[in-house]
Amino acid sequence: MRLSVTGCGYLGAVHAASMAELGHEVVGIDVDERKIADLSAGRAPFFEPGLPEILTSAGATGRLSFTTDPAAASGASVHFIAVGTPQKPGSNAADLTYVEAAIDGLLPHLRPGDLVAGKSTVPVGTAARLAAKVESVGAILAWNPEFLREGFAVKDTIEPDRLVYGIPAGENGVRAKALLDEVYATALSKDTPLVVTDYATAELVKVSANAFLATKISFINAMAEVAEATGADVTHLADAIGYDGRIGRRFLNAGVGFGGGCLPKDIRAFRARAEELGVGDSVSFLRDVDEINLRRRKRVLDIAHEELGELNGKRVAVLGLAFKPDSDDIRDSPALDVAVSLNGLGAHVVATDPEAIANSRAKHPQLVYAESTAEALEGADAVIIVTEWKEYRALDPVAVGEAVAGKVVIDGRNVLDAAAWRAAGWTYRGLGRP
Ligand code: UDX
Repeated sequence: MRLSVTGCGYLGAVHAASMAELGHEVVGIDVDERKIADLSAGRAPFFEPGLPEILTSAGATGRLSFTTDPAAASGASVHFIAVGTPQKPGSNAADLTYVEAAIDGLLPHLRPGDLVAGKSTVPVGTAARLAAKVESVGAILAWNPEFLREGFAVKDTIEPDRLVYGIPAGENGVRAKALLDEVYATALSKDTPLVVTDYATAELVKVSANAFLATKISFINAMAEVAEATGADVTHLADAIGYDGRIGRRFLNAGVGFGGGCLPKDIRAFRARAEELGVGDSVSFLRDVDEINLRRRKRVLDIAHEELGELNGKRVAVLGLAFKPDSDDIRDSPALDVAVSLNGLGAHVVATDPEAIANSRAKHPQLVYAESTAEALEGADAVIIVTEWKEYRALDPVAVGEAVAGKVVIDGRNVLDAAAWRAAGWTYRGLGRP
C-alpha cells in the first residue's frame, strides 16, 4: 500500500519507518531539510531506540523515502498528518498552524477517494472543521490518534495496544475504515483491540488518555507532599495501593514530575478547549494536576537549599537533562528546568545526560555541561538525579563518594537504594521519602 506521512518529528519519522518495515511503500515529507537529509541517509535525527535499525532495514528495501516536496504525496492512498501541535506562546491553547499548513500542502496532490488520516493531537472539533477542506477535493478525513511513548516508539507503533479510528458517517466512513484496516493489517491480524468511532470521540480519546496519565502522576506526587509532612514513604504507599488491580502500579512513580512534548501541553490545551466549549469546570482539576507537577521541581530546589544552605558558589552535579530516560527530548523537561533554576540561584551547576546534552546546550548555553558522569561528579557538593537513566540508578555510592566534595544526594526520581547510600555515609533525600 502506498502511504505518505507529513511531519517527520518523533511521531512521523517513527510512523513512516514502521509502516515501511511492515511492508508499505512510504514517503515521509517535512519542511526541515536537515531532518530530511538525515532520514534519507538512514540516520535518526533524534535519539529513539530501534529507529536507526528500521530506517536502515526499511530503507534498504527501497520502500521508504523522505523529501521536502509535498508533491511526492501524489499516488499514495492514505496520507498521515503527524506534525506537531505545540502550546501557543502566551496561551494554554494548542497551535494548529502546522496541521493547517500540512493539509493545505496536501490538497493539490489528493485524488478523489484518498484518505487523509490525522495523527497529531488536536483540540476536539478540529477534525470536523478540517473535513470540509479535505472533502472539497473528493478525499476523506479520518482521525487516528497515536499513543506511542518516546523510548518505546517503534514497538508502540508496530505493536500498538489499541487502534482508534475516528471516521465520518456513511460511505466515506466505510471506505476510511477499509483503508485503515489495510494499513494496520498486521496489528489487526494479532487481535489488537480496535475502537471505531466519530471524530470528536477519537480526538477526546487521545487528550483524555494523556490527562488521565498526568492525573495519576500528580496524584502520587500529591501523596508525596503529604508523606513529606508526615514522615511516610510514598514509594511503599505506591507499591501497596498499586497491588489493587483497579489502581495498578504503573505511572505511580513519585518524583520531580512529568514533562515532555505531550502531557504538559495536552492538559493545558484540553483546559483551554473545555473552557471554549463551556465545560471548563469539568476539567478544572487539571489546573491542580499541572500545579502539583510544577511544585515538585521547586521542592528539589528547596531540598538543595536545606542541605547546602546558601547555593551561591556550591558545585552541584545534575544527573539527567532529558524529560525521561531513553530519550534526548528536553521539551518541558523537569530535569533541565531544575538545572537551569539552580544555576539561576547561583549554584555552580555541572549537568550531564547520556543523550540530551546537545539539545540542552542549544537551548541553555549558559549551563556547564559534562560529557561523562565522572566529570560531572568531580568535586560536587551535592548530586541530584533528575532523569532515571539506568547508569544513574546503578551508581555505586562508595565509588561516587570518593569523587565528590560533599556526600549529599537528592534522588529526584526515587530510584536509589536509600539504605545503601546512607550506609556509605551519604545524606540521602528523596521526594516523599523519609
Ligand atoms: C506520553 C504518553 O504516555 C503516550 O501514550 C502519548 O502518546 C504521548 O505522551 P511520553 O511523552 O513519551 O508519552 O512519556 P511518558 O512515558 O508518558 O512519560 C511522561 C512523563 O511522566 C515523563 O517525564 C516521566 O518521567 C513522567 N512520569 C512517568 C513520572 O513522573 N512518573 C511515572 O510514574 C511515570
